[in-house]
Amino acid sequence: MEQNLTGIIVNTSKNFQNKIITGLISFVEIVKTIETLSDGYQYLRNHKPGMVFMDVTTNAKDCMKIVGLMLKKEPDTMVFLIDDGKDPDIILEGFRTGATDFLIPGFTGADVAACVKNGLKRSSGMVQKAEVFTVFSLKGGLGVTTLAINLADHIYDITKGKILLLDLNLFMGDITSYLDIVPSFTPYDLVGDMDRMDKQLLFSSLFRHDCGFFVLTTPEEINDSDSISGQDIFDMISLLKGYFDYIVVDSPHDFSERTLKLLPCTDRLLVMVQQSIPSAKSVQKVIEFLNEIDFKPDGLNIVLNRHLKKNEFKIVDLERILSGQISFVLENDYPLFIQAANKGATLNSVAKNSRINQQINQMAAGLTGIKPVPEKKWKNLLFKKKNEIK
Ligand SMILES: Nc1ncnc2c1ncn2[C@@H]1O[C@H](COP(=O)(O)OP(=O)(O)OP(=O)(O)O)[C@@H](O)[C@H]1O
Ligand SMILES: [Mg+2]
Repeated sequence: MEQNLTGIIVNTSKNFQNKIITGLISFVEIVKTIETLSDGYQYLRNHKPGMVFMDVTTNAKDCMKIVGLMLKKEPDTMVFLIDDGKDPDIILEGFRTGATDFLIPGFTGADVAACVKNGLKRSSGMVQKAEVFTVFSLKGGLGVTTLAINLADHIYDITKGKILLLDLNLFMGDITSYLDIVPSFTPYDLVGDMDRMDKQLLFSSLFRHDCGFFVLTTPEEINDSDSISGQDIFDMISLLKGYFDYIVVDSPHDFSERTLKLLPCTDRLLVMVQQSIPSAKSVQKVIEFLNEIDFKPDGLNIVLNRHLKKNEFKIVDLERILSGQISFVLENDYPLFIQAANKGATLNSVAKNSRINQQINQMAAGLTGIKPVPEKKWKNLLFKKKNEIK
């Protein structure tokens, strides 16, 4: 065990217990699993474990009371709550009472480990500062929205951190229809509430997708996009950066004032291109413009989307025109994307083992620098631990 960290599990099912124990096996010792809330509270008072894991999906009111008492007595305890996120009031109250983070019921051992590691980082005073990946193309229809959605999903899958999918197509977003979701909290609300926005209010207002990432998008209707200025965009992203690990932006197809204010907030600009001369020329213009405004050269990545090997216009031809390398290549698989869109799902949910899904997974790993943990490894650990517990 790397560190002398201990934890207890209160009020959870055997299934959750196994996942927590297995996930934390290398760095946190789970010293006790306790059935009732009052026994959990007594144990905490007498033994002061560093962490508490508690299921609040049932009997949330009593759970919150106990969490409040626990943190009053032992404010340095890290409390992780298991909740399905359906009732924003629970999240609001959880953070208000001082809970470190929430786990959603479908979590795996890897999710718990990442969640605890992120919590430890934050409690050691390391400020969270999101990396921003902006997906962009000057021409429409090249796959910006599709990539932004699936990239956010894969980054969450790999990091289990706090990931935000941010739609800046303020006039009319289409993430809502691609994911078949109806978030009530929009960028317009966030800009309007910026002065009083804190962690509690933000996370209880934001929509969280079942896959684990958060979504901030505009409704699928015509909005008064001019009511949001470039400065609003800059302020909004600066604020959001403080609360997330990664932000993936679905950006508009223009160089308006709002996009220009988005660029300084962007760590990596992912510019989409397809195998055609007009598309290559459009990207050429983008690169020229970025050079003119001195956009950081290391921050630019060209993404070839809908790649077809048989196309006579090859990757080398594109690279020649663009005088630079293509960083990522995503193949053409229209039927799979349509299948996902028709189900309102991410590609990882409908076609996990497809090549295009693996390519986006590799892209997420390349951008974050974090290698995905093979599922098999966690299953082996779980098996080992179960045998040890006997
Ligand atoms: N790699 C791919 N293979 C096949 N089809 C793809 C691929 N990527 C995206 N598409 C399809 O291309 C179409 C346009 O994609 P998308 O809406 O993401 O583009 P966009 O750049 O956001 O367009 P808009 O101008 O509407 O903002 C969609 O039908 C999508 O399913
Ligand atoms: Mg789009």
